[in-house]
Amino acid sequence: MTQRRRTRKTVQSKRWLSRLQKVESPDVTFVSDTFPIVMKKARGMKVTDADGNRYLDFTACFGVSALGHGHPVVQRALRSQAAKLIHGMGDVHPTASKVLLLELLARITPFDEAKSVLSLSGGEAMEAALKTAMVVTGRHRFVSFSGGYHGLHFGPLALSDRQTFTRGFEPWLSDKNTVIPFPRTQLDQSAGCERLDGEFYLASHGLEHWDTVLEKLEDALRTKMVAGVVMEPLQGRGGERTWPSGFAAQVQKLAHKYGALLIYDEIYTGFGRTGTLFAYEHEGVVPDLLVLGKALGGGLPLSACVGDCLDAWGKSSGEARHTSTFLGHPLACAVGHAAVTEIIRRLPEFKNELSNIDLSFKLFLEAYKSKGLDTVQPVALRGRGFMRGLWFPAAPAGFAASLSEELLQLGYITLPSGPRGDVLSFTPPLIAKRREFDLVLGSVLQVLAK
Ligand SMILES: Cc1ncc(COP(=O)(O)O)c(C=O)c1O
Repeated sequence: MTQRRRTRKTVQSKRWLSRLQKVESPDVTFVSDTFPIVMKKARGMKVTDADGNRYLDFTACFGVSALGHGHPVVQRALRSQAAKLIHGMGDVHPTASKVLLLELLARITPFDEAKSVLSLSGGEAMEAALKTAMVVTGRHRFVSFSGGYHGLHFGPLALSDRQTFTRGFEPWLSDKNTVIPFPRTQLDQSAGCERLDGEFYLASHGLEHWDTVLEKLEDALRTKMVAGVVMEPLQGRGGERTWPSGFAAQVQKLAHKYGALLIYDEIYTGFGRTGTLFAYEHEGVVPDLLVLGKALGGGLPLSACVGDCLDAWGKSSGEARHTSTFLGHPLACAVGHAAVTEIIRRLPEFKNELSNIDLSFKLFLEAYKSKGLDTVQPVALRGRGFMRGLWFPAAPAGFAASLSEELLQLGYITLPSGPRGDVLSFTPPLIAKRREFDLVLGSVLQVLAK
């Protein structure tokens, strides 16, 4: 595995960051002496910062740039639509690009008669899903899972158990949702984790046995006040966490038994991220509502709540009950349509590389062990497809954030994930190849061996 060392110039980035700090709310961008970079341009997986330093992007910028940055299909759609009409009229005079995007969503989602509500961000689409579940069931409470992330608008914020996000807003959020623990999962590949006592995982990571979790779910559902159970089919910001096989089917069975909807937040996992077009396909559990975002817009802000129960809203009387100024934005719909069509066309090719990427992780874990690093810092591989995480379960909170900062110095953009910040996450554009993974994983070894 190749490793690189470099000295970065930071003069321009520092200048921009100092200007930013004077004008942006201080609780938005985290700034330290070595973090972040100021991005200037990008192509494929390559990002260049304001000082001309180059990086490989292992985030796809929050999973959005699935085809890689600046993809020609996206550029063409952008130019063509921009020349015709940039902004339309949300829920009043629709555009052809909105109709085409809605038709595409109806074709590729698993519903017989799919209808959608479009929005701009993931959080907004989640709001639409929560409202839809309330309209369909006539109920007003929700159940979500610990570690889930569904956005920071008030609706999805109520689903969160992370105080980092809810602090200061508790009175607004209280009594709307029950958060239940995440079930314990068998780790598929690990280096050193087998030495850790099983109870360690349960206690320090808030994990509980499958049966206990389902009991808690049933207790909440029994009140008959729950409109929907919300889950990501693979937790993204929760640390690339997969559910134990068969668990989602049990959740769905219980939700339906008590008249609640199953809402899948596929904002992160959708559009090839986990190796299938949608992540629900892995377990074959079809939700009642599918919430999409991120890669959907091909880089422009676009999200959707899709299902076959949206007729419950009734017909608009002229004042839509749920809309916004930019709903169905023509530019975002045209670019999203082009990007999603291209992702679907190239998905088999992207999938082909996954066995090579698996090999890269396998070799990493072997090298990790052979260097004796597993005795110092056990590591486990999580996630699937192009959504992977290296979990350091015995590390102090924030461990992956420091690792990610060090990797930035070496030319790799990564993100930490997990409620404790102990997962180093890799969600690159789907064009990523084994050679890029070899490079970044070689550098992870280099940093940890220090
Ligand atoms: C699974 C999931 N749901 C919802 C959201 C919120 O999306 P947005 O930041 O676009 O509001 C995110 C964002 O990371 C996410 O990962």
